[in-house]
Amino acid sequence: MKPSNRSERLPPYLFAELERKVREKKAAGIDVISLGIGDPDSPTPEPVVEAMARAVADPSTHQYPSNRGRPELREAFARFYERRFGVALEPESEIIPALGAKECVFNLNLAFLDAGDVALAADPGYPVYTGGPLLADAEPVLMPLVPERGFAPDLDAIAAEDAARARILYLNYPNNPTGAVLPDGLFEGVVEFARQHDVLVVHDASYTETTFDGYVAPSFLETPGAKEVGVEVFSLSKGWNMTGWRTAAIVGNEDAVSAYWRLKTNVDSGMFEAVQLAAAAALDAGPPEEMKAIYQHRRDAVCDALHAIGVDVTPPKGTIYIWAPVPEGHTSASYCELVLQESAVVLSPGGAYGPNGEGFFRISLTVPDERLTEAVGRLRDSLAA
Ligand SMILES: Cc1ncc(COP(=O)(O)O)c(C=O)c1O
Repeated sequence: MKPSNRSERLPPYLFAELERKVREKKAAGIDVISLGIGDPDSPTPEPVVEAMARAVADPSTHQYPSNRGRPELREAFARFYERRFGVALEPESEIIPALGAKECVFNLNLAFLDAGDVALAADPGYPVYTGGPLLADAEPVLMPLVPERGFAPDLDAIAAEDAARARILYLNYPNNPTGAVLPDGLFEGVVEFARQHDVLVVHDASYTETTFDGYVAPSFLETPGAKEVGVEVFSLSKGWNMTGWRTAAIVGNEDAVSAYWRLKTNVDSGMFEAVQLAAAAALDAGPPEEMKAIYQHRRDAVCDALHAIGVDVTPPKGTIYIWAPVPEGHTSASYCELVLQESAVVLSPGGAYGPNGEGFFRISLTVPDERLTEAVGRLRDSLAA
């Protein structure tokens, strides 16, 4: 049996590899602490669970959902965007629910890219921005994100021939994996670039609701002209502790939303309607505010501990990650391997997010405080050794 050439072009999915290593250690009876995957440890808010329980008891939610989504959910997204970002959205034509930001980002590649087209993707960046284009027979072209530029891509450095072939440009602020928040002027520059080169801008807003120190993350759609050139993918996964529920939406440019919907009608049959009603309740209630304080406290504890052992790290204003340089003499992979073997702590090697992630590692703050303290203690011991 031979898998397709296209699937063989994919690198192994980073977290599949991490999960395998953790399973091995656990099977050997070792107490592994995983700071690898960004999967919130707190439960989904009770009112959302209750809304789900009510909706699931209603047999009218049990049949095939429509891929357009229930009006209740589309209208709840529109209310949320108006309240939170001051952005007006038309529920009928500018909002379609998605089975998580991951599904949405992946399917946008199939909807917008042909063989030979280019998708511009941040390096380092969320792996689906590069794997998705490969699966669409297109080419991901990397835009380096470096600390010296505040992790903003340099649009002027994009080669003319790549800009000419580009059909999609991916952005994501607050940013995974770097923790960077939106650099000044970037959204405005991107709107201009997209107009010049006829590129669809896809802003992945997975972390706008997990921010600290009073920072409030904007929506791309607040930028003048954004809706003419782009869409935003908004997910409830991180902000509402709902990773398992697969709840997100694509919002913005009507033509792009419609192209996504047309493709999706051939791929899946939409979101379980009970989940849609629960997601609407979640949006109306807003994200659980206490999570900001929980993550901020963990962020400070980890950054203080890293500083104390000589790791130079900037406390991020958003996301659920710390992005830190590996100690001298290591690659990101060799350091993460060493920590796993010696301390049974799983870190994400920066190089897995792209060549410019080399030299860094990522810590996810999604484990309970006492486990995080234990993990940082083990890191300290392994660095001291
Ligand atoms: C930048 C980014 N986009 C999308 C996702 C996936 O989100 P969802 O659970 O909505 O599919 C993640 C998950 O880690 C992410 O970091």
